Amino acid sequence: MRLPWQLLVLQSFTLCLAGDATPRGPVFVQEPSPVMFPVGSEEKKVKLTCQVRGNPWPRIRWKFNGTDVDPGADFRYSVVEGSLLISSPNRTRDAGTYQCVATNAFGTVVSREAPLRFAYLENFQTRARSTVSVRQGQGMVLLCGPPAHSGELSYAWIFNEYPSYQDNRRFVSQETGNLYIAKVEKSDVGNYTCVVTNTVTGHKVLGPPTPLTLRNDGVMGEYEPKIEVQFPDTVPTAKGGTARLECFALGNPVPTIVWRRADGKPIARKARRHQSDGILEIPNFQQEDAGPYECVAENSRGKNVARGQLTFYAQPNWIQKISDIQVAMEESISWECRASGRPRPTYRWLKNGEPLLAQDRVHIEQGWLNITRVSLADAGMYQCVAENRHGAVFSSAELSVIAAGPDFSRALLKRVTLVRVGGAVVIECKPEASPKPVYTWRKGRDVLRKNERITISEDGSLRIVNVTKADAGSYTCVATNHFGTASSTGSLVVKDPTRVTAPPASMDVTVGESIVLTCQVRQDHSLDIVFTWSFNGHRIDFDRDGDHFERVGGQDSAGDLMIRNIQLKHAGKYVCTVQTSVDQLSAAADLIVRGPPGPPEAVTIDEITDTTAQLSWRPGPDNHSPVTLYVVQARTPFSVGWQAVSTVPDVIDGRTFTATVVGLNPWVEYEFRTVAANAIGIGEPSAPSEKRRTEEARE
Ligand SMILES: *[C@@H]1O[C@H](CO)[C@@H](O)[C@H](O)[C@H]1NC(C)=O
Ligand SMILES: *[C@@H]1O[C@H](CO)[C@@H](O)[C@H](O)[C@H]1NC(C)=O
Ligand SMILES: *[C@@H]1O[C@H](CO)[C@@H](O)[C@H](O)[C@H]1NC(C)=O
Ligand SMILES: *[C@@H]1O[C@H](CO)[C@@H](O)[C@H](O)[C@H]1NC(C)=O
Ligand SMILES: *[C@@H]1O[C@H](CO)[C@@H](O)[C@H](O)[C@H]1NC(C)=O
Repeated sequence: MRLPWQLLVLQSFTLCLAGDATPRGPVFVQEPSPVMFPVGSEEKKVKLTCQVRGNPWPRIRWKFNGTDVDPGADFRYSVVEGSLLISSPNRTRDAGTYQCVATNAFGTVVSREAPLRFAYLENFQTRARSTVSVRQGQGMVLLCGPPAHSGELSYAWIFNEYPSYQDNRRFVSQETGNLYIAKVEKSDVGNYTCVVTNTVTGHKVLGPPTPLTLRNDGVMGEYEPKIEVQFPDTVPTAKGGTARLECFALGNPVPTIVWRRADGKPIARKARRHQSDGILEIPNFQQEDAGPYECVAENSRGKNVARGQLTFYAQPNWIQKISDIQVAMEESISWECRASGRPRPTYRWLKNGEPLLAQDRVHIEQGWLNITRVSLADAGMYQCVAENRHGAVFSSAELSVIAAGPDFSRALLKRVTLVRVGGAVVIECKPEASPKPVYTWRKGRDVLRKNERITISEDGSLRIVNVTKADAGSYTCVATNHFGTASSTGSLVVKDPTRVTAPPASMDVTVGESIVLTCQVRQDHSLDIVFTWSFNGHRIDFDRDGDHFERVGGQDSAGDLMIRNIQLKHAGKYVCTVQTSVDQLSAAADLIVRGPPGPPEAVTIDEITDTTAQLSWRPGPDNHSPVTLYVVQARTPFSVGWQAVSTVPDVIDGRTFTATVVGLNPWVEYEFRTVAANAIGIGEPSAPSEKRRTEEARE
């Protein structure tokens, strides 16, 4: 039966397929974590985990305290699917820092550093302790003095074979293990034993008993609190961690302990108090919990205060990691990584697991890494490490440098390029290539030489100005870098320039007439041609302005414009623009439209008598035909509309802007207006003057 084995093969084959099929550098799926190994535990192996991805499948090495671990030389080591197993771990030999190193064809990455520590607790060395003698009412400290250990300890005391209970008179420090009695009483006489427990291993050891006796030379009187257990001046606490502050005072009477913040803010409600307020614990520590704290010990004799600062710290945490970059040779790259953390993290960079230092093309500044003029040797795995004294985080990415000979398959030369004689032309040459190729051009079979008309730019484009018929032909761009050479060919066709044979003529017309503005050209007949007309700078829309504007001429090459029933508003500049694929030209004409004069302006009554009125006015627009005549009209409340009136002079010519109206009736209210006439006709009347009454009839 071979079946189970075959199944196994199939399975691992499927796994391979499901894995990352595209070639890429190593990436950590899981990095080693700190390990605390309990000495004497059932487990006889330590495992430091490391899992990676990558194609080809990465090889994994381990480093211990910075040097390579050699599983071949030490049988206690084995590497299983990336993870390091240490059998029979030994505190003196194996405690230290471990780092996983993964390598494949694309480069190397290193994991974060994981410490391996051993939790243990040795036995007390001393057998017995000398007797402690105190006066009744006095305060007292019994030292625990825990034996050599690693891992967190907890402390308790046995009093005469019974657990010593704690009240506001007695306090066991979880920092030192010492037992404090604020005020000794007769009942305290007996044997005291410190019990130390390693919270990681669960191992427990008992210290030597210390007998306590009372002195018989009197009783201690009352005295003010003396703070014996005091928390440090600064207590750094990790984000999310628990801050634990201890405070205990000796004194008679037994002091009370009160906690508060020295800056007046309230202590967070999540805070807990233990051992008759001797311990303040703040769980899930946050920035706002940092600050000055104090404990106040008080009795009837007085009070004392202990102070300290709780500070906040946070391990680095990524805000911006780096990601893979593909870059062509000679180009530049820029990476930025950013992490939060308190204190603010600093950054360093690794290339293939080794420190990367700034040098001429490599610029490093804070979380920035810039590399200019990338070369093949820059390819590899890069890591940004953000660290502060509380931890480090690693982000990795691959830099791949593209190296490729020129390739025109996605950017062939334009097959045909048109240009007119005398014009300028650019033929672009844009193959893919890394690094940038150098370019040469051929015309037909000959290498093209640059001259004052022919230039080849840095990016490969060919430019010819003042083109002549002789420039027509086939052009080949040849691109070369150290990975190869490739070329692409296109042809240049030179056309005769378009000429306007019948440009529009400037004209002078009268309102109501219709005219044609010509625009006729001679052009190469293989070229498409488009005519557009504009009037005073705006393109004429023949659909919208169809009442007046129309294209006429019929043939393709005729762009004539007909303007029907011309109005004064049609006066102005007309431009015909001719566009072909090789050139663009335009021709302009001015149209002057003559019409009857516009209304005169500002008709004013300068003086009025019983039968005359003296008027003046200003001329209105003459609409391109001089005013020949003004006529004055008047209106009264009794007249039917406007009536012509007699004036002196009788006939007012076009250059006279004053007149005296005669033959008016006394004591009648008059208003006046004037009308101008020219050779084309009579214009609109002016606006009326003010109304004024003639004077009373003279005797
Ligand atoms: C641990 O290693 C130290 C130093 O190599 C050696 O002296 C000691 O005997 C070892 N302990 C055990 C339990 O193997
Ligand atoms: C490894 O490094 C740790 C921390 O620096 C040190 O305590 C330990 O002795 C070192 N172990 C060896 C075997 O060098
Ligand atoms: C304390 O221990 C000593 C020696 O073990 C013993 O003689 C003594 O009686 C003990 N005292 C008390 C109060 O239990
Ligand atoms: C890297 O480049 C970025 C922008 O690309 C720039 O802001 C930064 O100053 C550069 N840093 C260095 C060290 O050159
Ligand atoms: C192109 O022709 C123009 C006008 O004909 C002339 O001024 C210019 O110098 C010529 N340029 C070249 C590069 O021959």
